[in-house]
Amino acid sequence: MNKKYRKAIIAGNWKMNMTASAVRPFIDELRAAMPKLKTCDAAICAPFPLIPALGKALRDFSRVAVGAQDVCEFPSGAHTGEVSCDMLTDLGVKYVIVGHSERREYQHEDDFKVNAKLRAAIAAGMTGIVCVGESLEQRNRGLTLEHIDYQVSSAVYGLTEEQARRCVVAYEPLWAIGTGVVATAEQAQEVCAEIRAVLKRRLGARTARAMSILYGGSMNAKNAAELLAMPDIDGGLIGGASLKPADFAAIIAATAQE
Ligand code: 13P
Repeated sequence: MNKKYRKAIIAGNWKMNMTASAVRPFIDELRAAMPKLKTCDAAICAPFPLIPALGKALRDFSRVAVGAQDVCEFPSGAHTGEVSCDMLTDLGVKYVIVGHSERREYQHEDDFKVNAKLRAAIAAGMTGIVCVGESLEQRNRGLTLEHIDYQVSSAVYGLTEEQARRCVVAYEPLWAIGTGVVATAEQAQEVCAEIRAVLKRRLGARTARAMSILYGGSMNAKNAAELLAMPDIDGGLIGGASLKPADFAAIIAATAQE
């Protein structure tokens, strides 16, 4: 399907790294390394306590938006330790990751919770980046597409077409996250095409064509261009390489090839 109907997006996921005092120097370096031309939307998804510092550092650098790595599905009240959508939007947060495999695994978040979080984030006006991906065992057993179908269908359940346009799907194979083992461009394209086919079935062709699908998992300055050249890969969700300003800027620059 034609890429002209959707945005290229490069989002950094800092995970549990960085400190508030390291944010300003990082953004200064990133700004110096940024390509001249804007060829994609860019965001950094930071840990909650770093969001005010990130927002401040990006105040006069609107090329990069502020993102978060998780959000609570409930609006307010007795949810000790949680962070609400309103708290995030009040700080200028535009993107929020939901259902990252690390949260699914270590915080036991299931598909129902991921769907509830995505709906809450979108209702609050943010763009939700929902992560899906198979384990190595699932891949080896030939269960990849079946698993992805289920995760994507559950994630977008109940979304209207209009709401779904504020949802981005990130394909992150678990075996490629933080391992240095990147999916081949063909492997990533196969799954991203399947994700678009599921979105088409669930939400219609026009909506599926307008939704950005990202690849994540050991994406770096060297392999980004090849992955981004694939017809159904519209951007990247970057872990390790987003902690290095020059590398993150180089990945952003790789969206210029289209
Ligand atoms: P890496 O880029 O470090 O493999 O992490 C990918 C990821 O999990 C982004 O959300």
